[in-house]
Amino acid sequence: MGRKHGAERIAWPVGTAGWEARAAEVLPPAVHDWLAGGAGEEWTLRANRSAFERWRLRPRMLTGNDRRDASVTVAGTRCPAPFLLAPIGGQTLVHPEGELATAGAVSATGVPLIVSTASSFGIEEIASQMGGVPFWYQLYWVDDRDVVESFVDRAVASGCAAIVLTVDTPLMGSRDRDVRNDFAPARHGAGLGMYASDDAFARRLTRPPEEDPEAVREEVARITPHTHLTWTDLGWLRAKTTLPLLAKGVLTAEDAIAALDAGMDGVIVSNHGGRQLDGAVASLDALIEVRAALGDDATVLMDGGVRRGTDVVKAVAAGANAVLVGRPFMYGLAIAGRDGVEAVLGSLIDDIDRTFALVGARDVGSIGRSFIVEAPG
Ligand code: FNR
Repeated sequence: MGRKHGAERIAWPVGTAGWEARAAEVLPPAVHDWLAGGAGEEWTLRANRSAFERWRLRPRMLTGNDRRDASVTVAGTRCPAPFLLAPIGGQTLVHPEGELATAGAVSATGVPLIVSTASSFGIEEIASQMGGVPFWYQLYWVDDRDVVESFVDRAVASGCAAIVLTVDTPLMGSRDRDVRNDFAPARHGAGLGMYASDDAFARRLTRPPEEDPEAVREEVARITPHTHLTWTDLGWLRAKTTLPLLAKGVLTAEDAIAALDAGMDGVIVSNHGGRQLDGAVASLDALIEVRAALGDDATVLMDGGVRRGTDVVKAVAAGANAVLVGRPFMYGLAIAGRDGVEAVLGSLIDDIDRTFALVGARDVGSIGRSFIVEAPG
């Protein structure tokens, strides 16, 4: 079903494969490769999906669950269903309105968004389109504390409700499709909005950012790698803000414990959608390990391969308080801007409710580990 567009009614694709196929038709091939692809051989990209296939649901019948409520509060933020929009940079590559269109869909659906440091607009502009729906800020550490501090200050001043530090990108993974296509988002002017609008970053340049976009690109590339960063350094970030802080990109029990020891309020189990270390474990499998290590009370989210309501319920059963959804909303954005994102979010919310009905759940709290089982060999 589509939403009315004047006299025309858009027939939306069916299922994620349908959305991806339609996006592949409308996007330039190199942009589609950037969005859909992963690092190296794409083993981890595929593993994220196959883990969801391997874990099966154990539905309970006749639970009388005619009244269902999928809403959840994570790190103080209320979500209408247990998911948020993952931070994705450079959204103008797939649609000219990029993050602003996505923010419009957020204001319509109430699904919280995580704004990326690699956004094509500044956070102030994106926040202004959100209609009061809570949002988080995803911080990429850069090799200049003044710039990191300025990003955090701007996010806080814009009203963000939590800060997510991505810890799996000390430098970029090798995305073979991009290498093959000689494709880099920044060369298309995408993903630089936070930097180009930042005073601390501008102090590193000899001319104002708008007068020398090439210098902006070069300087971003120079300060992006930060392989020297350790968990101990995060004390500085912890002291800067009282907002909830989450570490995104944790894949082991050891790092989950290190993150909490460093003062983080929670972790997001993620392999960056298979875009960083190829061969790394699937997110769903890592989630089980991390939840076991941190116990029931810790805030643990996950992302990677979440496509349907059944995936959301499996992740919750495996221990996630909520999940992030990445590529699917970008396919919606590519196909029809804000309306497309809204359609993707609306259909996922419906699918989560249908899954609750079929699996025998009333609310997120009623879903436990007994709802899933690993498929026999
Ligand atoms: C990402 N991801 C990401 N993560 C992050 O912390 N900051 C970022 O700027 C980006 N940018 C980005 C761009 C693109 C094109 C993709 C596909 C992914 C990772 C993202 O937040 C999330 O971890 C994955 O997308 C989740 O996997 P799925 O849902 O796409 O399978």
